Amino acid sequence: MEDNRRHPTCHTGIPMAVLPILVYPDPRLQTVAKPVTAVDARVRQLVADMRETMYESQGIGLAATQVNVHERVIVIDVSEKRDSPITLINPEIVWASDERRSGEEGCLSVPGIYDGVERSVAVKVRALDENGQEHTLEAQDLLAICIQHEMDHLQGKVFVEYLSLFKRTRIKTKLMKAQRETVRA
Ligand code: NI
Repeated sequence: MEDNRRHPTCHTGIPMAVLPILVYPDPRLQTVAKPVTAVDARVRQLVADMRETMYESQGIGLAATQVNVHERVIVIDVSEKRDSPITLINPEIVWASDERRSGEEGCLSVPGIYDGVERSVAVKVRALDENGQEHTLEAQDLLAICIQHEMDHLQGKVFVEYLSLFKRTRIKTKLMKAQRETVRA
């Protein structure tokens, strides 16, 4: 998910790289991610790179799908200070509130586009962290929305797919035109 708040760099001790982010309607964003089989050094490096990419892009969440790695890995930081990263590996929603609300969302893969999506206001998610430890996290409001948004990415779903065909077509046209202009520039 995208956010406009400023961020400091994160410090995990692992050298990090900023990864290129796929832009909608890139068909690779529709790939369904596979579960991580072992939380090893390779996965920890992916997490570190995704975190750096998220902070550098001023995002509040990033799914591995968006950096063209099709494994169930998500990084999130919804804190004001950008100093509270959360890692969700093989996340499963174990409970979602019946209460749903529409909130405005953005996405690093859909730059400059914001629109309303209805989501559960609270969720419980079970996942592994980057040390392979299992946790159950209770989330509400922005964090709950962010978790649902990023988990959609792992299923190959981008938030604009909740919007009307008319809006989606307009967004596709706009982003494809922007990419052609970038290539020319
Ligand atoms: Ni997104």
